Amino acid sequence: MNSIDQIDAGGKRVLVRVDFNVPLDEQRQVRDDLRIRTALPTLKHLTGQKARVILASHLGRPKGKKVPELSLQPVADHLGRILGQEVAMAPDCIGSEVEAMVSRLKPGQVLLLENLRFHEGEETDDDAFGSALAALCDVFVNDAFAVCHRANASVSAVTRHAPVSVAGFLLKQELSYADQALHNPRRPFAAVVGGAKVSTKLRALENILERVDKLILGGAMANTFLAAAGTDVGGSKVETDMVAAAAGIMTRAAKKRIPVYLPVDGVAAEGPDTDAPVRRVPVQEVPSQWMILDIGPASLTLFSQALYDAKTIVWNGPLGVFEKDAFSRGTLGMAHCLAECHALTVVGGGETAEAVQKSGLADRISYISTGGGAFLALMEGKELPAVTALKEAGSPGSI
Ligand code: 3PG
Repeated sequence: MNSIDQIDAGGKRVLVRVDFNVPLDEQRQVRDDLRIRTALPTLKHLTGQKARVILASHLGRPKGKKVPELSLQPVADHLGRILGQEVAMAPDCIGSEVEAMVSRLKPGQVLLLENLRFHEGEETDDDAFGSALAALCDVFVNDAFAVCHRANASVSAVTRHAPVSVAGFLLKQELSYADQALHNPRRPFAAVVGGAKVSTKLRALENILERVDKLILGGAMANTFLAAAGTDVGGSKVETDMVAAAAGIMTRAAKKRIPVYLPVDGVAAEGPDTDAPVRRVPVQEVPSQWMILDIGPASLTLFSQALYDAKTIVWNGPLGVFEKDAFSRGTLGMAHCLAECHALTVVGGGETAEAVQKSGLADRISYISTGGGAFLALMEGKELPAVTALKEAGSPGSI
């Protein structure tokens, strides 16, 4: 895969695919700018080289229609503030008006194209749409790790038409940490997997089981594993059609002598939205009308103990309904635990990254991935389609 440091971008029109799919608040201000800040090394490198920088991103899922609420204008304003220079906003992402704006860009200036997903061709990897994007540039840079698990035109088809395609600094860094943690871990290597559903994590669990020395499970997903182990978890959510798969994972782990740690207690309530009282209960004693909504303190102690000697830890998926204070202690406690560990700690998944930011301990974690689905795809052992496209694309050659 070719890289941004192989090119001299001075004076060139450089199209950078970033993932600025960031949450906006009710005032349509950027609520969490991790994905914008992590693009800065590439952007500053290019403006420093006096490239004419054209940025492209999607925001939300407008499904091929122009949805004004999903305009990238607030992102242009936010980026302008943290970059310390004006970021112009284009009315669209392809077409003659955009081409005219690009031709007026001066070296070092930055233009943000409008939401790529206002065009149907983006998500269908339409060749003509990719070609229209490529027509805007001399060099294409993919720095959008978080969307690399999608074969979308702006990361796939575009590489078949751009004269040169390279990876940006963020993409390189993401792949390097994932590779270090998942393929060349210092051992013991532990994975902490949480989240709502076994069904969305099954392939990742199966793949990770081939690599880890211990596995820690939390979140609503763990209920299904507890059920598979014969525990009656009261009114907790259990995916009945996944109980057999969960049992299969436990059997394989036992055969491989990989310890699997499940919660031993939980914080339970009648539901996440009630103001009803919450109780800490052993997992064997959850009342039938109550559900586990977070791991309990004994589980956190057990998990911390299990992670004590780990040299590499990968964490994906919150351990409870961390958005609600009453059920956030397990997830925030895990962030503390990772911050204390003498290990390479890699956190991935949108919610998990958000929880770590919320804990205030982000700077004590080795790496927080900007990817949700993309990070999970790497945990599943897949090569990302956009990375494949980049490997097959035009090389820097004389550039
Ligand atoms: C993400 O937020 O995970 C990426 O931006 C991809 O978005 P998508 O799930 O809407 O394709």
